[in-house]
Amino acid sequence: MNYENLLVQDSDGILTVTINREKALNALNSQTMLELQRFFSEDAPGRSGLKGIILTGAGDKAFVAGADIKEFLALDAGQGQVMAQRGHDIFFLIERFPKPVIAAVNGFALGGGCELAMACHLRIATENARFGQPEVNLGLIPGYGGTQRLIQYLGKTKAIELLMTADMIGAEEAYRLGLVNYVVPPGQETAKATELIRKISSKGPVAIAKVIESVNAYFQYDEDGFAREVKAFGDTTGTEDFREGAAAFIEKRKPDFKGR
Ligand code: CAA
Repeated sequence: MNYENLLVQDSDGILTVTINREKALNALNSQTMLELQRFFSEDAPGRSGLKGIILTGAGDKAFVAGADIKEFLALDAGQGQVMAQRGHDIFFLIERFPKPVIAAVNGFALGGGCELAMACHLRIATENARFGQPEVNLGLIPGYGGTQRLIQYLGKTKAIELLMTADMIGAEEAYRLGLVNYVVPPGQETAKATELIRKISSKGPVAIAKVIESVNAYFQYDEDGFAREVKAFGDTTGTEDFREGAAAFIEKRKPDFKGR
């Protein structure tokens, strides 16, 4: 399969998928999202001998710095909901993938990037990795599952603080809070992820798939917080505040929010 924004390398059944938009800090534009969808729904399931998948970002500065702000700047509330629902569907494909998917977080994992890492089964962070959900800086909320998965990993106390303050945390704090499984020096993240996939692939494959399925089932509540997030993301996408927040980001200045 040909990709514009993903590099896919196969090493003895371990696929390393690199999001390859280094100049935009690997921001997730719609083409990249489409390619992730095709990869997880068509390409990867058809590969024989697949042991697991490592997701990482090109360069040494960012894993993924979020959804591509420049691209969704002009969306209205309805289109914002469509964008969020699409992102949820793709990230559920990752979370429900029956083989281990490990995020090798090699720098900024912000907004949609933090959400992408959280949709993976395990996370390895380099010492310089930084995590955060800075959407409120833009007058937005997370739209790819961040309000739900951050609570799953951190608990409500820290999750709601990070969601409301937009503060970033470093790799060591992410480890301490239970967001990442291991912290390694830069350059060693893929080797650590490979070691884990080798270990997991020596176990019963059906059992591993059932572990993933059963763990995911723990978080299926009656009240669908993911659906709430889709609606709320759409609501924030349609605001003047988001236009102002995104314009301020692009013009590299502080936003002047009006609350509408
Ligand atoms: N979308 C589009 N472009 C982005 C981007 C993003 N999320 N993040 C970075 N870029 C671009 C910058 O615009 C810049 O491009 P130009 O050179 O053309 O100006 C380039 O990447 C390098 O970025 P900076 O110059 O800003 O680099 P820096 O070292 O000064 O700062 C950073 C790095 C702190 C990560 C900063 O880029 C930043 O704050 N990025 C935005 C993070 C963010 O807000 N993410 C959330 C996006 S919304 C979202 O993800 C919603 C959702 O849940 C679905």
